[in-house]
Amino acid sequence: MKELLAETAARATRYVAGINQRPVTPRPEDVARLEELGGPLPEHPSDPAKVLALLDDVGSPATVATTGGRYFGFVIGGTLPAALSANWLAGAWDQNAAMQIMSPATAKIEEIVMTWMADLLSLPPNSGMGFVTGTTMANFSALAAARTTLLKRAGWDVEQDGLFGAPPITVVVGGEVHVSVLKALTLLGLGRARVTRVPVDGQGRMRPDQLPPLNDRTVICAQAGNVNTGAFDPAAEICARAREANAWVHVDGAFGLWAAVSPTFAPLLAGVSDADSWAIDCHKWLNVPYDSGLAVVRDPDSLRTAMSLSAAYLKPSDKREPWHYAPESSRRARGVELWAAIRSLGRSGLREMIERNCRQAKFFADRLRAAGFEVLNDVVLNQVLVSFGTAENTRRVLAEIQAEGTCWCGGTTWQGKPAMRISVSSYATTDDDVERSLEVMIKLAK
Ligand SMILES: Cc1ncc(COP(=O)(O)O)c(C=O)c1O
Repeated sequence: MKELLAETAARATRYVAGINQRPVTPRPEDVARLEELGGPLPEHPSDPAKVLALLDDVGSPATVATTGGRYFGFVIGGTLPAALSANWLAGAWDQNAAMQIMSPATAKIEEIVMTWMADLLSLPPNSGMGFVTGTTMANFSALAAARTTLLKRAGWDVEQDGLFGAPPITVVVGGEVHVSVLKALTLLGLGRARVTRVPVDGQGRMRPDQLPPLNDRTVICAQAGNVNTGAFDPAAEICARAREANAWVHVDGAFGLWAAVSPTFAPLLAGVSDADSWAIDCHKWLNVPYDSGLAVVRDPDSLRTAMSLSAAYLKPSDKREPWHYAPESSRRARGVELWAAIRSLGRSGLREMIERNCRQAKFFADRLRAAGFEVLNDVVLNQVLVSFGTAENTRRVLAEIQAEGTCWCGGTTWQGKPAMRISVSSYATTDDDVERSLEVMIKLAK
């Protein structure tokens, strides 16, 4: 075991050290070699060192260099050194983070992280929190708490009786709602098509003047950080309207909620802390390894009622039992990496990373504009949408940038126009990475 772990560390170190020297996307021949990992089911044991060597020799070259400094696709964070180290150690611990009795260490670490996260993100300090896989499950968990609470107010116990015959709930979303919210609504039996869509403005923000009448059986799903533009729904107006009607406001803040750590960008979140629940990703802008998200609910009992379980072999406990706040029972100890990330960066380090990435996004936009290309969004955070002229040209340039390998950006269609998306979300991204990427983008586009 000792030698194997040392060998693992050496191989992983080599991978990390080489990440910026290789193409961001794997070469087709490296992807083709992945077949070597297959073959018939192994009938007999193999030497673990050989298993590791095969995985590294064949698997590593076929990975996408998302932890390097020049990956700008989707909204994908890198991995902080302390978070990666904590992930390794937690792997060695192999704790089941479901219950206090199974792992007092990870249960305590989660509690510490909850306090720190509420402080960092300006959320109510005694909120209920569930450590989940990402924002899709965070949306699911928080909206489950909303469903429980609104139906309880109407005299209906959804945990006992399900949704058949339940009083109807109205779900209001913006026209630019993220698909993960719709997926969560589907899983919750609330239906993805049964939503009221509020028209949006040119940046994708919900127009509060277009909100439908609200009541105490309405859930409004607002967004902090549009996946294309980075724009924020006007939470202050939405929450004020919701409060008058006793409606529930849920905020999908997958990456945008991190703006709270920067006094420069926090004003974008005005009113967000008045909501009832929030979903946030930690594998995005906190730069912890996959997978990691957090569901936050102002009233911990709402989340607990929606998620709790009991059985004869489980003793009641007066402590916070992690599995009463998340959909899973057995699960890995995600809180450990969050603890390490926050402990290592501190508030100021986290703020530096967020502000640096936002500055870099603005630099991308300014330079591409100066080179004659159109930036389709107001760059308010870390997202940039670029058009290279005609739809055909934009698609061609994007494909060439992706194939060239210096950097990687994704594509999208923004209000009918094809665009390249640049999302700057990594601790690893230096100004030099931005310069090198711009050089390639501009050369290929001209
Ligand atoms: C605004 C928003 N919500 C939700 C999600 C889904 O997050 P995850 O893939 O972590 O489930 C994303 C991912 O990009 C997002 O940007």
